[in-house]
Amino acid sequence: MYNDNPTLEGVKKQDEKRQGEVFFRQQPQSQPVYPAGTRRFYIESYGCQMNFSDSEIVASVLSEVGFAPTKIMEESDLILINTCSIRERAEDTVRKRLKVFNKQKKARPGTKIGVLGCMAERLKAKLLDEEKLVDLVVGPDAYRDLPGLVETADEGDKGVNVILSREETYSNIAPMRLDSNGVSAFISIMRGCDNMCSFCVVPFTRGRERSRDAFSIVAEATDLYEKGYREVTLLGQNVDSYKWENPETKDTVNFAHLLEMVALVHPDLRIRFSTSHPKDITDEVLYTMKKYENICKYIHLPVQSGNSRVLELMNRTYTREWYKERVEAIYRIMPECAISSDVITGFCTETEEEHRDTLSMIDFAKYSMSYMFFYSERPGTLAARKYEDDVPLKVKKRRLAEVIEVQQRVSLAHNLADVGKTFKVLIEGDSKRSAEDFKGRNTQNKMLIFPKKPGLKPGDYCTVRVNDASSATLKGEIV
Ligand code: SAH
Ligand code: SF4
Ligand code: F3S
Repeated sequence: MYNDNPTLEGVKKQDEKRQGEVFFRQQPQSQPVYPAGTRRFYIESYGCQMNFSDSEIVASVLSEVGFAPTKIMEESDLILINTCSIRERAEDTVRKRLKVFNKQKKARPGTKIGVLGCMAERLKAKLLDEEKLVDLVVGPDAYRDLPGLVETADEGDKGVNVILSREETYSNIAPMRLDSNGVSAFISIMRGCDNMCSFCVVPFTRGRERSRDAFSIVAEATDLYEKGYREVTLLGQNVDSYKWENPETKDTVNFAHLLEMVALVHPDLRIRFSTSHPKDITDEVLYTMKKYENICKYIHLPVQSGNSRVLELMNRTYTREWYKERVEAIYRIMPECAISSDVITGFCTETEEEHRDTLSMIDFAKYSMSYMFFYSERPGTLAARKYEDDVPLKVKKRRLAEVIEVQQRVSLAHNLADVGKTFKVLIEGDSKRSAEDFKGRNTQNKMLIFPKKPGLKPGDYCTVRVNDASSATLKGEIV
């Protein structure tokens, strides 16, 4: 889901395989024929799934005014980069890419460069001082304004809009699916975050939390199903606090209701969602998941730390005990459910003993996988203002390595337990290694690789028996 931590090569490789948790650059499908005079845009996306989903909104807005997507940077008139600020590394990656874009701009005068997303929002017009060749700086709530901003840039000025909104959800914009496998798609259900975890920059870059019209979400899911898609992932920073009031009936739709509405679109349309916040995930949501076979039995439930004192400093508003109770509730209500997590090591003042609480939590929760990071102080956040970033980098990294080691052991055990079992799998496409094999995921979000059978194609379901497992994938055959 995040692509800024090159030290975690092994973990990245593991996660690369989990489609939906996209790590790498996403580039639009090239369009073979461009009508005369058509301008082309090229877009790269970094960061979380929300950003990838936003890039599809951006593509849609630009196509309305006659821009066509291209995968080839060298032939584009407008180069866009949708950026992430979550850790320092994420921003470093963006700056490196900007150097490459600047070269291209010099080679092809007239090319415009735009910085979108969280880094645009965090740095605002300051970015223009630092990056002289950038023409556009556009925050996550200002994408409707892109055509006008491009015009401003065409006239030789800088186009800047970083105004955050309390209402914008882009609910009436049909995303242009970029680099899609035609089987699974993201649907953004809310924007922003009101949680103020002390380490996190998202509330500053994405603004206040707001939920999108439930009916527009169902309409988007229905449209995707009709176009042949078989899996949608509902996206938000904290999906469990989804809340939308129907302006006519005044009824409120919570996340459990929304899940049910989307599950009813069609039994063959799989529903996933991300991210759940441990303080907000309700039993109502868990029972709704249990009730519908097509709601996948997989929950991304980031713990961040296994220690209550650290959690309090992080302002996560739950304790170790609370988190464990939520994990127990999940396994009690859906014994087959897989849980994954995000972990931060070396947060301000974290001791060795407190770090060991995180290690033991991985064993307790039996995560199928985790995204693991060492703490990176972000300017302006609560932690940056209140606490000293006092754990030495070396210690942060060593603790991270320990967390990765424990998680890999737990992931392997999780996967080995699946050997001999059969799963319903949604075929996503050819496996990366061989065109003779398909890849697809089971309800627990685990990737399975298995030899093709005639008559089956991506988007079909099949039953696969697992006969081999590594910590990253399951291998099997269709039965
Ligand atoms: N909304 C989600 C997470 C969004 S950010 C949630 O609440 O769980 C994705 C992940 O990046 C976080 O879960 C956290 O593990 C990590 N992260 C966020 N800020 C970070 C920082 N300053 N340093 C290191 N990791 C961070
Ligand atoms: Fe950041 Fe916390 Fe909001 Fe997640 S819930 S986006 S970690 S502030
Ligand atoms: Fe990064 Fe912004 Fe997502 S900071 S993780 S792209 S919300």
